[in-house]
Amino acid sequence: SMLFAPERVNSAGFDLHDVPTLEKIDAARAPYRSVQWHATPLIAAEAPSLKPHPVTNPFLQSDDLGTVAHASPESVETALAQARPWDATPQERGAVLSNAAELYEENFGLFFAILAREAGKTPMDQVAELREAVDFLRYYGANAPTDPPAGVFSCISPWNFPLAIFTGQIAAALAAGNAVLAKPADQTPLIAFEAVKLLHQAGVPRTALQLLPGSGATVGAAITSDPRVNGVCFTGSTATAMRIRKAMAENLQPGAPLIAETGGLNAMIVDSTALPEQAVTAIVESAFQSAGQRCSALRCLYVQEDIADSLLAMLKGAVKELRLGDPWNYSTDSGPVIDAKAQADIADHIAAAQKDGRVLFQMNTPQTGTFIAPTIIKVDSIKDLTKEIFGPVLHVATFKSSELDQVIDAINATGYGLTFGLQTRIDDRVQHVSDRIQAGNIYVNRNQIGAIVGSQPFGGEGLSGTGPKAGGPHYLSRFRKVENILSDQ
Ligand code: NAD
Ligand code: ALA
Repeated sequence: SMLFAPERVNSAGFDLHDVPTLEKIDAARAPYRSVQWHATPLIAAEAPSLKPHPVTNPFLQSDDLGTVAHASPESVETALAQARPWDATPQERGAVLSNAAELYEENFGLFFAILAREAGKTPMDQVAELREAVDFLRYYGANAPTDPPAGVFSCISPWNFPLAIFTGQIAAALAAGNAVLAKPADQTPLIAFEAVKLLHQAGVPRTALQLLPGSGATVGAAITSDPRVNGVCFTGSTATAMRIRKAMAENLQPGAPLIAETGGLNAMIVDSTALPEQAVTAIVESAFQSAGQRCSALRCLYVQEDIADSLLAMLKGAVKELRLGDPWNYSTDSGPVIDAKAQADIADHIAAAQKDGRVLFQMNTPQTGTFIAPTIIKVDSIKDLTKEIFGPVLHVATFKSSELDQVIDAINATGYGLTFGLQTRIDDRVQHVSDRIQAGNIYVNRNQIGAIVGSQPFGGEGLSGTGPKAGGPHYLSRFRKVENILSDQ
């Protein structure tokens, strides 16, 4: 019983090649260049006064961008006690979410500024992120189901899409009429705070949406192990998803759903018929855009042996052209990684490869900010990768034409199944490979990042997620009770 609204359209976004558009963005974000934001829990009762902690700008340590007060155990308890499913018709909920979409769009200057300063997002990523958030609000709102809500839903999100994924989870849970407890990632509470204020302003009742900033180990653990919670929507690492599943199994009702979108070890196969320029563009975007901090990002490239030398030469040339720098600037292609811990973990991985003489190429690292310079590492097989390296590091292996099926088997054997890319001009091969590859999203002759709400539902299988895919027609079904009324009539 979904209400499909044919008039819904995706957000127009912004054309960053158009000078008047850039001027409009500059004027709108200028007031937020050096302001401070202060995030606190937003609960449906007076919040106690809590100690603020500084939030950091990954590009500029000296940027005083604001503070966050973490939810205390008492504020989590109050939020659980105050939570009430949203008592409104599907049409009313849809209308409020649509109001929120408009408020988000009006506040583009605010959001672009926070995305740059708190999350290190470049202008291209800022535009894509706001569009996706707005599209989720309208899409789930327009499809708000009539069945009763599951009850109280905990929504736990990652820092790498601190507006789009944060909003998408909440929009789905609210469209279905649930009471939401939202916990943003530790690194990105400020944008979450501003977003929830706009959702309240749009008309979402405070008892239906409460914000609980804090760490995963405290707030996250509390809202996934309380029997008053009826379902959890999580996006983040596979290890955290497994921890949450265990906590839910031990404490929640057996039927409580877990929707988990997790990590990937994503591969691309480039055969010798591929168009080299197209392949190189797709590889650079997939591996290095957003500093490789996308669940969908390309981690292991398989190039057919015959073209490997020429393709790698072109690839190095293209990577050298990338401009690393201040995410605020339009000329920046890639910003820093999220924090010093991420930087150290990725640097360790690169150092180990360096010791083995496997680093094929590395750019120079900028002096300020937690940067990792885009790096290319030689591997024999995807089997050499034992974990997701969440940054701008591309691993490259070669294969012979006769080894294609072995390569597919090795990719499937990782157990992950998020994105997969294929570059070929042989139609039969597209069919052969996509029939065998186990991945939620397969991208042919293009990059393998990004997804469009409503037309490219996104989500993985195996270690990469539970489904149903976000931004698709089945997603909302997991957020409600399905009633089965039998009658003799
Ligand atoms: P993370 O797992 O460290 O954290 C995600 C969220 O879980 C955070 O809000 C964190 O505080 C919370 N958390 C941590 N421990 C918890 C616990 N015990 N109980 C409850 N909550 C807890 O992930 P991250 O570093 O924020 O994000 C990067 C990861 O997210 C990568 O693995 C990436 O692939 C994945 N990701 C997946 C998708 C997708 O759609 N499949 C999208 C974006 C990111
Ligand atoms: N849809 C997001 C991406 O592909 C998660 O990068």
